[in-house]
Amino acid sequence: MIPDDSQSRYFTSNPTPKALSKHEALVREFVDYHVSTNPNTRIALVTSGGTTVPLENQTVRFIDNFSAGTRGTTSAEYFLREGYAVIFLHRQYSLLPYSRHFSHSTNCFLDFMDESGDGEVVVRQEYQQKMRRVLEEYQYAKKNRLLLLLPFTTITEYLFELRSLATLLQPLDSRALFYLAAAVSDFFIPRERMNEHKIQSSEVENGKKSGDGKQLVVNLDPVPKFLTTLVSQWAPRGSMIVSFKLETDPSLLVSKAEQALEKYGHDLVIGNLLTTRKWEVVFVTKGGQERWVRVPKAKRSRSVSGIEELVGRAEKNKPSDEEVDLSG
Ligand code: PMT
Repeated sequence: MIPDDSQSRYFTSNPTPKALSKHEALVREFVDYHVSTNPNTRIALVTSGGTTVPLENQTVRFIDNFSAGTRGTTSAEYFLREGYAVIFLHRQYSLLPYSRHFSHSTNCFLDFMDESGDGEVVVRQEYQQKMRRVLEEYQYAKKNRLLLLLPFTTITEYLFELRSLATLLQPLDSRALFYLAAAVSDFFIPRERMNEHKIQSSEVENGKKSGDGKQLVVNLDPVPKFLTTLVSQWAPRGSMIVSFKLETDPSLLVSKAEQALEKYGHDLVIGNLLTTRKWEVVFVTKGGQERWVRVPKAKRSRSVSGIEELVGRAEKNKPSDEEVDLSG
């Protein structure tokens, strides 16, 4: 399929990210290493976190979204546990696999530590077990070069990176998996309309109605939908492509997920609602099947990230539409 004009224009009218060639070299090296050490290697490209929309070229201000990268990081850990090597394309400074357990303000790493009787800094007794488990997994991934971290910030960086990385994964065919959990902006300011310098408050216009006072009016264009091209051109033949659909209105979620699957022709759309995304998701697969996966009510408070594990288990075991217990 030929990419539509808006897509080609998007890539020619926006500058190539500075880090792209370095990231491409890292991905080539990562793929070569894993293919040469294990010809059956499976590589997952996990995208995570929000994309920004800069208002100025020398960016002081930007539009952002809510995503902290919980879904992406938690799922990346799950893929690593399942034997995948993971390329983690993430929003710079958002959560990262393993360190996410101790980095959030409610999970500050300093609260996990104490001073021992002889003045050594140690992990507090009650956190020893959890920290040891996370540390072991982290060190295993590091030692075996299983995790490649690649940051992006803007929507443009994200799209350039995704296109390049998908193309570089082509030799893997069906051993590549795409798990697109990043929150991707639908709107942006085209380069030719973007201010070079910081927008000055003295430059903003008066509102249309009298009494409106000064207003900064921001005019956004739609970001071209790239999933069709990802599926039909960039990604390896036979690779599995999982995308997420985020809505806030429950009545739209399933139909929008079905439309996405129909339109892009990939394997699976996982739908989630902003307010309930941490404990329920819906799988929509080809043939219009819909399957809900839920963390049981009693386990929701202690398991903010349990849903990702259930997503993995649900995909493997294909249970019917029901709550899946986290224990065992
Ligand atoms: O990080 P957390 O706080 O844990 O939140 C996780 C999450 C809610 C962000 C995640 O689960 C999720 O839903 N991610 C996808 C969010 C999103 O971009 O949804 P959307 O409905 O706007 O887009 C749907 C799909 O279209 C996405 O796969 C996106 O990659 C794709 N898209 C989007 C914009 C665009 N211009 N072209 C696209 O192809």
